[in-house]
Amino acid sequence: MAARVANELDLQGMRAAGMAAASVLEMIGEHVVPGVTTDALDALCHDYIVNTLECIPAPLNYGGGGGQMPFPKSICTSVNHVVCHGIPSAGKKLKNGDVLNIDITVIKDGYHGDTSKMFFVGEASVLAKRLVKVTQECLYKGIDAVRAGAHLGDIGYAIQRHAESQRFTVVREFCGHGIGKVFHDAPQVLHYGRKGSGIVLEEGMCFTIEPMINAGKRYIKILPDQWTAVTKDHKLSAQWEHTLMVTADGCEIFTWRAEEGVSRPTATAAVAQ
Ligand code: MF3
Ligand code: CO
Ligand code: CO
Repeated sequence: MAARVANELDLQGMRAAGMAAASVLEMIGEHVVPGVTTDALDALCHDYIVNTLECIPAPLNYGGGGGQMPFPKSICTSVNHVVCHGIPSAGKKLKNGDVLNIDITVIKDGYHGDTSKMFFVGEASVLAKRLVKVTQECLYKGIDAVRAGAHLGDIGYAIQRHAESQRFTVVREFCGHGIGKVFHDAPQVLHYGRKGSGIVLEEGMCFTIEPMINAGKRYIKILPDQWTAVTKDHKLSAQWEHTLMVTADGCEIFTWRAEEGVSRPTATAAVAQ
């Protein structure tokens, strides 16, 4: 069954978890500078999540079924051609011109908040800036397609259309997901697809939208560490993610950050009973 807010307690829980996850991205920004290692960023986030927010970093020891190694760190750091699930490492020092996705998932009082954003390390290339901007636009266009009565496929359609209009490509191996008391729940939220396809969205459903958009071809491969996804052609990839809940006329975004402005959909939640 799809993750959904069933009562006021769930709603308050999802709001608090989302706000906590967003605050980690707000905290870490000033630390993303040339010379810092992705392991140092992980340590800062881990400490903030555990000691300041008193939350659980959901990625730490996540997965591990079917012979896979559990994820060994508290955040994902995906640099340049890394599509997602990059593992923070003491050997990975950021340098001027790198672009980086930091993906944060926290558990607060049993509820998950999952969100990611792109950071520039020093001065970015024209291509990197354009890819990052278009990918964020893809997220927002996906979000704009969300309302009760819309179809899940409307989201993927809006994202794919925008990405491909800019001659970028959509990664297909990973998707957004239902979220709540479970980290990765039904439904799968594809970032490509056809208008009018898929389930009908209902008030109170909670899921993420997290498009991964490539500058080159859409194909990826997984590194021997069993987690890190990279573009096959080693061209740049970008990703942005929010956790939201469907409302009658749009959605409530639980992981919204102040820097995103006030003009985004923040419809007052109508809780599905
Ligand atoms: N936060 C990622 C997502 O958006 C999942 C990370 S799972 C991990 O779904 F184990 F790699 F951390
Ligand atoms: Co997610
Ligand atoms: Co995430």
